[in-house]
Amino acid sequence: MFNRRYVPTAVAVAVLLATAAVGYMRTEAKTEMPVRILFKNNGGNVIFSHLVHHRNYEIACAECHHESAGAGGQTLACGSCHPVAFDDDFVKRHIASFPDKQYCVQCHHTEYDEIIFDHDEHEEYADDCRSCHHDESIEPEPQKCGNCHEGQRDGDMPGLAEAAHARCHTCHEDMFEQGLTSCKSCHKEVDMTLYQGDYSSCAQCHDGPTKDLVLTRMNAFHDQCMDCHEKEGRGPYGEGSCNKCHIR
Ligand code: HEC
Ligand code: HEC
Ligand code: HEC
Ligand code: HEC
Ligand code: HEC
Ligand code: HEC
Ligand code: HEC
Ligand code: HEC
Ligand code: HEC
Ligand code: HEC
Repeated sequence: MFNRRYVPTAVAVAVLLATAAVGYMRTEAKTEMPVRILFKNNGGNVIFSHLVHHRNYEIACAECHHESAGAGGQTLACGSCHPVAFDDDFVKRHIASFPDKQYCVQCHHTEYDEIIFDHDEHEEYADDCRSCHHDESIEPEPQKCGNCHEGQRDGDMPGLAEAAHARCHTCHEDMFEQGLTSCKSCHKEVDMTLYQGDYSSCAQCHDGPTKDLVLTRMNAFHDQCMDCHEKEGRGPYGEGSCNKCHIR
């Protein structure tokens, strides 16, 4: 049944249910590689010669299925990870579209454990407690920032990360300079491989929208198919090429 898989992208729900079903079934039995795949979509159907690409053009599975070299080792539909849109519906349903939890780390790739911060030492570095703690009008006695600052900003009230970072930044500008690679100077990272807990939203650490981090379905296909064609100088790509793949 896999070589006749139709994927109506216009209906996001159907895509996600289908990929979920495929995910479940694949854990049961090893599936054959589909010979041809028909993508039904608003841009016009695309027939993709799967076997020909692999056998005749000698393209290794892992060149397209980049996850097959990763955790889990199974081939998943691109739409499991590259949905039509990263909307509420995706968030609700995406967990069920993966055969096992090893896949989660491809996106939920880090959570932070306890902070590397020696409070006692810092009492000496700073002139007084109020260089980090608020004055008495807000914080009568110094206490944990997390008692008042929660996960996300709420009006004038900054979230925990923003509040703590602002204070640490006054003396440790250098630690934030390298962007994401510098987080480790204060944060111990959790080993996510067998992680079962809650996941932070991407926006807690990343400024840009998720679709800029992980491509949406159309962009994932276009980039992967056409980048290779362009690199090889063979196969359709570029402006005038649409109807070489999209047929009415
Ligand atoms: C040129 C790129 C390319 C190569 C090479 C390739 N595939 Fe695929 N494969 C795809 C695309 C695209 C799909 C469609 C995925 C989708 O429907 O989202 C697919 C679908 C599949 C599916 C069905 C996935 C599903 O969930 O419906 C399987 C299984 C699969 N490929 C296995 C393989 C194996 C095994 C190899 C190597 C022998 C291979 N593929 C080589 C691009 C490729
Ligand atoms: C298990 C989840 C998962 C699956 C399945 C998956 N991707 Fe991805 N893909 C990602 C993630 C996460 C990124 C962004 C991180 C990165 O660049 O490695 C990404 C990045 C990409 C990129 C941009 C980077 C690059 O490698 O050029 C393209 C293009 C892409 N995917 C296409 C595809 C296609 C086509 C398929 C199906 C054949 C597919 N992906 C299947 C998770 C997945
Ligand atoms: C292709 C990337 C990707 C993969 C793989 C992935 N997720 Fe997600 N997940 C997301 C995105 C995007 C969101 C929305 C997060 C946001 O709003 O910033 C999300 C949200 C969630 C949430 C809700 C978090 C909240 O804000 O309440 C949970 C729980 C979750 N994912 C669990 C999982 C589990 C379990 C797996 C593995 C079975 C998994 N995810 C695999 C991208 C992914
Ligand atoms: C360099 C910044 C900084 C300075 C200076 C500082 N603190 Fe703190 N303090 C913090 C941070 C950050 C926390 C929250 C740590 C946490 O959540 O683990 C905290 C937490 C506390 C707590 C709560 C501890 C707990 O476990 O509930 C007390 C009490 C406290 N500080 C007292 C003081 C006093 C008294 C001084 C001055 C002698 C002082 N702090 C100076 C940053 C500072
Ligand atoms: C008792 C509650 C409470 C505690 C504890 C607390 N805050 Fe705040 N914080 C507030 C409130 C309320 C505001 C908003 C004040 C305003 O409107 O300017 C705020 C605002 C801030 C701001 C933005 C305004 C500014 O002062 O620059 C920073 C940064 C901040 N807090 C850092 C911290 C840090 C770091 C800690 C722990 C060392 C901490 N806060 C502990 C209540 C608290
Ligand atoms: C008033 C200035 C000041 C503030 C505010 C401050 N620090 Fe520091 N911190 C220092 C000094 C001084 C040192 C010791 C010299 C050094 O390593 O830079 C230090 C050292 C450290 C180190 C060890 C660095 C290393 O390389 O070994 C860590 C980690 C650290 N601070 C974390 C924090 C965190 C987290 C915050 C915010 C809650 C914070 N600091 C706020 C002054 C400050
Ligand atoms: C100078 C030290 C320092 C650096 C560098 C730093 N952080 Fe933090 N971060 C903190 C402190 C302190 C807290 C508050 C932790 C607490 O009180 O539990 C925090 C909290 C957070 C939180 C909120 C955790 C929660 O439980 O809600 C996130 C998310 C976060 N940081 C992300 C980052 C990212 C991403 C980077 C790298 C760009 C980074 N941090 C770099 C010190 C740092
Ligand atoms: C707790 C903080 C944190 C959360 C939450 C988080 N990330 Fe990241 N992310 C990072 C850090 C740190 C790096 C850089 C890792 C490195 O350089 O080793 C990174 C790197 C990436 C990259 C590689 C590209 C780049 O910009 O370097 C992608 C793609 C990505 N994250 C996607 C996501 C998605 C999607 C989510 C939500 C499902 C997410 N991240 C949630 C901290 C986070
Ligand atoms: C890793 C490289 C690579 C990727 C990825 C790739 N192709 Fe190709 N494609 C080729 C090569 C090489 C040819 C051979 C052209 C020739 O012989 O002139 C080709 C030819 C084609 C052709 C014309 C002849 C034929 O076999 O039908 C179409 C249509 C095509 N590709 C569609 C796609 C689609 C759709 C995707 C994405 C799902 C894709 N290709 C992904 C390398 C790739
Ligand atoms: C190499 C083959 C190829 C070429 C060339 C190509 N596309 Fe696509 N296109 C695809 C594939 C594969 C999909 C994903 C199909 C799916 O998700 O079901 C897609 C999806 C789309 C979609 C999404 C439709 C929907 O329902 O969400 C649009 C719109 C689109 N393409 C327009 C274009 C345009 C405009 C061009 C020319 C600039 C073009 N494509 C060139 C292969 C191609």
